[in-house]
Amino acid sequence: MRLDRFLSDMNLGTRKELKKAIRDGRVLVDGRAAKDPGMTLSGTERVTYDGNPVAYHDLEYWMLHKPAGILTATMDKKQKTVLDLMGETRRKDLFPVGRLDRDTTGLLLITNDGALAHKLLAPKSHVDKVYRVLVRGILTKKDVDAFAAGIRIGEDLVTLPAVLDIQKTDPVAGTTEALVTIREGKFHQIKKMIAACGGEVLALERLQMGPLRLDPALAPGAYRPLTDAEKAALLAAAAGGES
Ligand code: URA
Repeated sequence: MRLDRFLSDMNLGTRKELKKAIRDGRVLVDGRAAKDPGMTLSGTERVTYDGNPVAYHDLEYWMLHKPAGILTATMDKKQKTVLDLMGETRRKDLFPVGRLDRDTTGLLLITNDGALAHKLLAPKSHVDKVYRVLVRGILTKKDVDAFAAGIRIGEDLVTLPAVLDIQKTDPVAGTTEALVTIREGKFHQIKKMIAACGGEVLALERLQMGPLRLDPALAPGAYRPLTDAEKAALLAAAAGGES
C-alpha cells in the first residue's frame, strides 16, 4: 500500500495534506523522513507522523444498530450507508461484516479485522446468526421441520439446516412472530426461506451474531465499541471454526 493512502486510511488528513506533510519530512518510515508519498509499504515498517506512531494494524470493533432504509456498504454515491452513520472522524478502513437488506434492522458488526470477518461469515465456522421475524402468514410445525431439513431457495441452492422457533401466531391478523437461526448469509436468505413456506417477511431484525447480542440500550442508528468481553467472545467463536 502507498504511504499517502495508508495515512489517509487512518484518517490523518486529506491525500493532498498528507502528500505535503510527507514532502515536508513530517512522516518518518523506520526512523527516516519518507519524502515520497508514493512509497510502497509492506506493512512491517514503523511509521510516525509528527513523532506519533501510526500503527496500521490497530483493529477496531464496533456494534451498530442498523436502522431501516440504510444501505449495508462502506460508501455509495446516492444512498446513505451504515458507515455514513458513523460520521467523519471514523477510520476509512472500517467495513460492515455481512450484509443486511436495506429494510432489515438490528445488529451489525463494523470492523477493520478482515480475518475475523472472513471467519465469522464462513458457514463452516458455525457462527449462528439469530433474527426476529414478523411474517404475513401462519407458520406451523411443518415449516419448522422444513427449516430443520434445509430449504430450496434457488435452482441449485438448498440452505443448511436452520432453526425456526415460532413465538406467537395471530390468526386474526394472519401473522406469525418467530426467531430464525441461520448459519449462512445467502442473498435474501430468510425472506426466501419464508417465501418457500408460503409466507412474506414484514419485518426482520438481527439480534445476534455468534456470542454477540444487540445491545438493547443502543437506539437505531447508534453505535458503540465492543466491550473487551464481547471482543474476546467473538474472536474465540471465530477461531473455533477456522476455515
Ligand atoms: N435474510 C434476509 O432475507 N435478509 C437479511 O437482511 C438478512 C437475512
